[in-house]
Amino acid sequence: MSNPPPQTLTLIRPDDWHLHLRDGATLGAVVKDTARQFQRAIVMPNLRPPVTTTEQALEYRERILDAVGAAGLPGDAFTPLMTLYLTDNTAADEIRMAHGTGVIHAVKLYPAGATTNSDAGVTDLLGRCTGALEALQEVGMPLLVHGEVTDPEVDLFDREAVFIERVMIPLRAQFPELKVVFEHLTTKEGVDYVSEAEGPIAATITAHHLLYNRSAIFQGGLRPHWYCLPVLKRERHRLALLDAATGGSPRFFLGTDSAPHARGLKEHACGCAGCYTALHAMELYATAFDQAGRLDRLEAFASVNGPAFYGLPVNTGTLTLKREPFRIPDVLPMGTDSLVPLAAGETLAWSVQQS
Ligand code: DOR
Ligand code: ZN
Repeated sequence: MSNPPPQTLTLIRPDDWHLHLRDGATLGAVVKDTARQFQRAIVMPNLRPPVTTTEQALEYRERILDAVGAAGLPGDAFTPLMTLYLTDNTAADEIRMAHGTGVIHAVKLYPAGATTNSDAGVTDLLGRCTGALEALQEVGMPLLVHGEVTDPEVDLFDREAVFIERVMIPLRAQFPELKVVFEHLTTKEGVDYVSEAEGPIAATITAHHLLYNRSAIFQGGLRPHWYCLPVLKRERHRLALLDAATGGSPRFFLGTDSAPHARGLKEHACGCAGCYTALHAMELYATAFDQAGRLDRLEAFASVNGPAFYGLPVNTGTLTLKREPFRIPDVLPMGTDSLVPLAAGETLAWSVQQS
């Protein structure tokens, strides 16, 4: 006889290894959502202007900690793990300085033009950035990769697979000891590469890429809140991602890529890419793992594999999920604007227990 399905699930407190917090009023509005579920988060540097220097990252960190305090949370409720935005001009010394702070944990590669606020990104990684890459490899700090080519000749849905051949393989052949995180993986090709490649490689997977395929963007009409980059793919890719996340490999871990955009900029003739999932991230991931019958693997994915790759301790606190309906709000306040969370108005089977 099979065991009854679990009604509660207590995990080591999880972390989010890929998060957009923005700045100013947006930061103030969203940071509490992440802090409610996660102890730490890798904070993306694609602000306007981008966070390219150690000094800017330290200042941004202070603004995040101020926002945590202003939200009424204790100072130790949430730890932002800062990142630098790689440019063609990032100096090796900047990398060493960043690493020396102990609070900057990674450097993000955005191929120029690949996504939101990526105009200052890298135009030629192996032509322009070898000094920075050598320094990263030397100090053991991960390079976080937005893995899509920007070549307009390459179909939008193929950009991740082509990136593996054109950038990832040559990069890792030249820097075999470099720690690389293939961010927000979306394809079976990506899963196969990360599963089989030699050396220090890992990948984050979002909740939305585990739960939805590309039909979600077009279900009953054009649904901009399902539009993100890399874009949702076919069902066979979703299934490969679900297998990877729930399969027990330590190379795959949680990264929401929660990316707040004001409602009017999503529901727009040229809508912004990004899904807001910070509010209900663990409810979404629990739903995906439950659907796969692998709730037992959620803790490794959400709380253990990430710290192991980054060389950080696991958290000491816990988070409890209950099998109780969670209705996703239709809309959230965001400064003078509003924000529509992913799957607004729908009900999930799991809720995070409020402490
Ligand atoms: O959908 C996305 N939104 N993908 C990204 O890579 C960036 C992010 C954002 O910053 O809005
Ligand atoms: Zn992102």
